[in-house]
Amino acid sequence: MQQTIATALETQFEKDVYQGLTEYPKYLSSQYFYDAKGDKLFQDIMNMPEYYLTDREFEILSDNTAEIAKLFARGNASFKLLELGAGDGKKTKILLNYLSKNNFKFKYHPIDISQNALDGLEASLLKELPEVLVETRQGTYFETLEEINAENGTHKIILFLGSNIGNLLHSQAIAFLKSVQELMQEDDLLFVGFDMKKNPEIILDAYNDASGITAAFNKNILARINTELDANFDLDKFRHWEVYDPETGTAKSFLVSKENQTVTLQKLDLQVHFTAWETIHTEISQKYDDRTIAWLADKSGLDIVTEFSDANAHYKNYVFRTK
Ligand code: TRP
Repeated sequence: MQQTIATALETQFEKDVYQGLTEYPKYLSSQYFYDAKGDKLFQDIMNMPEYYLTDREFEILSDNTAEIAKLFARGNASFKLLELGAGDGKKTKILLNYLSKNNFKFKYHPIDISQNALDGLEASLLKELPEVLVETRQGTYFETLEEINAENGTHKIILFLGSNIGNLLHSQAIAFLKSVQELMQEDDLLFVGFDMKKNPEIILDAYNDASGITAAFNKNILARINTELDANFDLDKFRHWEVYDPETGTAKSFLVSKENQTVTLQKLDLQVHFTAWETIHTEISQKYDDRTIAWLADKSGLDIVTEFSDANAHYKNYVFRTK
């Protein structure tokens, strides 16, 4: 039985969904939020007043553009700018604009899980900043490591913005940073956005907005399973739930089944039973303090070069180099 099912599972998406929904407790990987509808919903999240992360990072990049550009170019050398999880590139465009207007020599390599997001980014750059050299690549964070490895010649700057690192558990973040570090040469820099610990209420509101956009975003993973795996999730029978632990700094997103129900995923030949109030864990969004960041860096073989903060220390960008 297991065997016939295993051979029927073709894509990574199918395998991961099967795995996550047959485990106890159930989980689904947040990388699957980002289909065309999910990309749009996440853009709506970034535009909500409660979701301060994007605005704070935008503020940091705007207030320190010249200093960051100088750091990246080591004066005025040419370089490669790789971005992991580029999305719509809204924040990166501040840097790209400054770099191109001031004749820095660089090439921009945005990498993202969503081809749809990359297509949108490429089209908007062609319109807004046609002089910038762009080469996109679709892939997961780990697949992007190959891309980093292939980039030699000029020094490279690796951007990992949006506190995307917070979607990894500390152990996974260390494994990831270590793999990046191993591919870094002496002159390369890693530029990472970290959402910082703060009043827990501000954090909860960012992941539990009044207008329900976050709930729709979280539930979109079920909608995607319905479309791509011929399933019959009733989105109204699940509710979005967010918790934040101010000690560990971990925010967790869940989908909670409001009742006993059985869902059929035809393409996986799978029936999934939910008892009332059973959960599906979908995302972690880790919040940091300076001490934890220093620990992560040390464990990953990285040295801190410098850091940039917004006025209230709600968000920081750290710059690392290999030890
Ligand atoms: N990576 C984003 C974050 O952790 C994605 C996100 C925003 C998210 N709001 C969410 C993921 C709600 C799940 C649920 O900030």
